[in-house]
This record gives sequence, structure tokens and C-alpha cells, in this order.
Amino acid sequence: MNKIILICLLLFSNLALANNSENNNELATTALHPKKMKWEFEGIFGSFDRASIQRGYQVYREVCSACHAMKQVSFRNLAQIGFSDNEIKQIASDYLVSDGPNDEGEMFERAGLPSDKFVSPYANEQSARSANGGAYPPDLSLIIKARHDGANYVYSLLTGYKEAPDGFNLASGKNYNQYFEGRQISMPPPILEDQQVDYKDGTYATKEQMIVDVVNFLHFSAEMEMEHRKKMGIRTMLFLSILLVILVMAKRAIWQKVK
Ligand code: HEC
Repeated sequence: MNKIILICLLLFSNLALANNSENNNELATTALHPKKMKWEFEGIFGSFDRASIQRGYQVYREVCSACHAMKQVSFRNLAQIGFSDNEIKQIASDYLVSDGPNDEGEMFERAGLPSDKFVSPYANEQSARSANGGAYPPDLSLIIKARHDGANYVYSLLTGYKEAPDGFNLASGKNYNQYFEGRQISMPPPILEDQQVDYKDGTYATKEQMIVDVVNFLHFSAEMEMEHRKKMGIRTMLFLSILLVILVMAKRAIWQKVK
């Protein structure tokens, strides 16, 4: 009888503990695993969704580029996602680029050219930090590769803003986000409402649509060589399988007489 009471007590205390840890979970500071999305670029035959990447570039340009640089990407790289040479010249010339020194040794500013890299919003890391409450908005060129499960992570991060739960110790100037380590991030939610961007191709810009598109664009910038790499992989496997058949046939022909 005593034993039964003891077991019951143990069970109850376990339940109480489990409950408690669930409560703690609300206030936990470790990041959740990113949501799993289906992306068109995944798998051996995965390819770029060019329409989405173009829209994603528009989201980057109109929203993210206020704070984030993308120094590894040149305007001419936009040709790969379907922009014409004239469009690229036009886009580049909208920016002022610092160049020089000229014959007098002075730096000067000129209109951007297709060969220029994307123009950064801040002159240096210090001014970026001072404009963002001390936090540094990282360069986004390779962010998808720089984070584990990058595309799903950035998608989850951008869709993951919430009210902080009661009792959560949110520092001032920070925003609650379950997918960011520590669950508080200095970046204010960048995608706030539908139609924040007026898509040139007429697609209705829901929040979800803009986030999927910008992730597609960031995946493109981090892996511009992806389609070429996959094509070469498939060709190599095809070549190797044909070679295998030829070699097996050759082996049989050569060894036929030796029984
Ligand atoms: C108002 C400025 C601002 C805008 C606009 C902004 N960000 Fe940020 N972002 C930041 C800051 C600041 C950080 C650093 C956060 C930190 O370290 O707490 C950051 C961090 C990030 C990170 C890195 C998170 C990590 O794991 O380190 C990603 C990814 C990101 N931003 C994506 C975007 C995208 C995509 C957009 C556009 C849709 C965007 N940001 C718009 C300020 C901004």
C-alpha cells in the first residue's frame, strides 16, 4: 500500500515538473527550430524561381536595404534573374557610387554602373551600429549560407515576431522573436503589412508573399552558381552511367573466350 502511494506521489511530482518546464518554455531564451518550408530551389532538379527572385529583389531594395548591405552582389548579377541590360543600367544609375582618386587625388561620386557592387546604406560598421541601437545589421549577400538551415531560418525569423509573453525580460529597444537566439532581436519587424511593396509584376503583396520572395532572392545571392552546379552534376552522372554500360560490355566481350 505504501509503495502505491509512493508511486502515485512520484507520478504527480513528475507531472507538476513537466507542467513547470512547459511554463518555463514560454519564457525560454533558446531559439526554436526553424519551420520547414518547401522551396523550388531544393533537390537535384531544383531551380531558381525567377519571378519570385525578381520580386524579392524589389523587397530587398525597398525595405531591407535601408539597413543591410549586400556587398558581394553586383548590379550585373541581376541579369541571371531575368533583368535586361538596359534595366540593369537604369537600376545601377539610380545610385551614387564613391570612386577615385581622380588626377587631383580627390575621391568623387558618380552614377552607378552595372559592374558596381550594391551600394551599402552606411559608410562603416560604427555608423550602422549607432543607427541601430548598437546592433549591427549583417551583410545579407551570404546570410542564407552563414546560418544553419538558412532559407528556413530567415523565413521563420521574418514571420516569427510576436508579443513577448508575460514575465519575459525584454530589453528596451528589442523585439520578441522565438527564432532568434536569446529570443530578442534588435531588428524591428521589417515586413509589417500587406502591400508594403507595390509589386511591378502585379502580384498581390501579402506579408507571406514578400517574405517568401525575399528569401528566394537571398538564396539566389548566396548561391548564384546553383543551377550551373546542378546541371554539371546531372551531366556527370549521365556520363558516368553511359561509361559504366560501355565498360561492362567491353569487359564481357574481352573475357568471353576465357571460360
Ligand atoms: C531598421 C533596420 C532594419 C531593416 C529595415 C531590416 N533589418 Fe534585418 N537586422 C537589423 C539589425 C539591427 C539586425 C541585427 C539584430 C541583432 O543582432 O539583434 C538585423 C539582423 C538581420 C538578420 C540576421 C539575424 C541573425 O541570425 O543574426 C537577418 C537575416 C535580417 N536582419 C534580414 C532582414 C531582411 C530580409 C530585411 C528586409 C525584409 C531586413 N532584415 C530589414 C536591422 C534591420
